[in-house]
Order: sequence, then C-alpha cells, then structure tokens
Amino acid sequence: MRIDIISILPDIFESVLGSSMLGIAREKGAVEFHVHDLRDWAEDRHRTTDDYPFGGGHGMVMKPEPIFRAVRAVEAGSQQAPTVVLVCPQGRLLDQALVEDLAGRERLIIICGRYEGFDDRVRSLADVEVSIGDYVLTGGELPAMVIADAVTRLQPGVLASVEATRDESHSSGLLEYPQYTRPATFEGRSVPDVLLSGDHARIAAWRRREAIRRTAERRPDVLDRALLTDEERAFARALRDAAATRGQ
Ligand code: ADE
Repeated sequence: MRIDIISILPDIFESVLGSSMLGIAREKGAVEFHVHDLRDWAEDRHRTTDDYPFGGGHGMVMKPEPIFRAVRAVEAGSQQAPTVVLVCPQGRLLDQALVEDLAGRERLIIICGRYEGFDDRVRSLADVEVSIGDYVLTGGELPAMVIADAVTRLQPGVLASVEATRDESHSSGLLEYPQYTRPATFEGRSVPDVLLSGDHARIAAWRRREAIRRTAERRPDVLDRALLTDEERAFARALRDAAATRGQ
C-alpha cells in the first residue's frame, strides 16, 4: 500500500516512519510512505498556508487553496482514486474496525492540519474524517503517524504471524489476555501455573477466560459487542454481578 502525508511539518515523520516495524515494512516493500510539504503548494513567496478567520476570532485557519492543490497533485497519475483522510478532532473515532478498513485500501492520502483548524471547504476533499480520541492535539501529525502505524502492521507479511494479530486486544473483539515471560517468579509474584503446564488446550481456555475477565473489568462497552458463546456470556454476567455486589 502507499500512504501520502501532507503536512507543514514534513521533517518530523522520518524517525517514526523509518524505525522498527514501520522501517522493516518499508524495506520489505509492504508499504511506501511519501511525505509532502504543504508549503510547496502555497501561492505566495512567503509560502503562506494559513489566514485570519472570517467573522473574527482568535487563531488562524488553514487556507483551502494549498490543500486542494496538494491533494490534486498527489492524486494525479494514480489509476485508482486514493482514499483521502482528513485528521481532525471532529472526525470518526479511530478504532480497529476503521483501521482494518483503511488497511485494505490501495492508497491513502492523509491531510494534517495545524492552527485552529481548516477552512471548512477542505472537508469536501475527504472520504473520511478521522479523530484519534476525544482530546485536542496541536496538529494532525501525531494522528497521521498513529494511522500509518496501525494500518502498516496489518499489511501482509509485516507481522511475524497472523496469530499475532488474531489474539491481540480489539482484533478478537476482546482485550488481550495477560502475558508473561521469564522469570517465572519475580519479586515473589509467580506466573499462573497453567502457563507452565505445556497443556495447550488448557492454556487456550485460560487465555480466553482471562480475556473475557479483563474486558469485563476494564471495557464493559467492548464486551457488549464481542462475539461470545452462551457459556461465555453467562461467565461475563457472573463477573459483572460479582463486581456489582462488591460495589464497583
Ligand atoms: N487534530 C487535533 N486533535 C486531533 C485528534 N484528537 N484527532 C485527530 N486529529 C486531531
């Protein structure tokens, strides 16, 4: 897949997009990143990309013309229209389902904003507006990196095994079960015996129950949407009743 990022801070991406799993994904050819300086599409010699808001108010607003020109230039020559993502706090909340959807696209163009926001006409360029959470950042660069990271690790061949994505938090509709590594006892705390038993069926059953327990305790909203057997649902209900009796 190919990801184009349009930003007025193009230099801040390389250390993230070039390191670790993203760097390896790039070397393997699973993903291409192209970061563009929005100022290259500004129309004046000061390379201005923002202006005062009509109607007054504080802060600056990102001008539409450089963004339209940038997106059109980056799109040019592409056989299939890329999916244009506008990152902004008003967008659809990013979750694993949206990540999976975006990861399946051939090309993404991610537009990052700064200042107080965009001229509203910029929204018409976007196929989807995405927020990474209900808080406001100083710009769209970190959200763009979050999206690039989450979709890249789903590209074929990027993770060591498909199993790794199947069990992890959110992919299965549950939070991930507790994980342990050596030493078996650390500062007096031992890992659960079952994990040392070598009995794969018992380990799988324990992990599934612990994933349900963890999700029930931390994210009951996620558990409500998870696919559970009748028996698992009854277990989840018992956990919830026990928590209610304890006054949680
Ligand atoms: N820009 C500023 N805050 C943001 C957020 N939470 N998500 C996406 N883009 C943003």
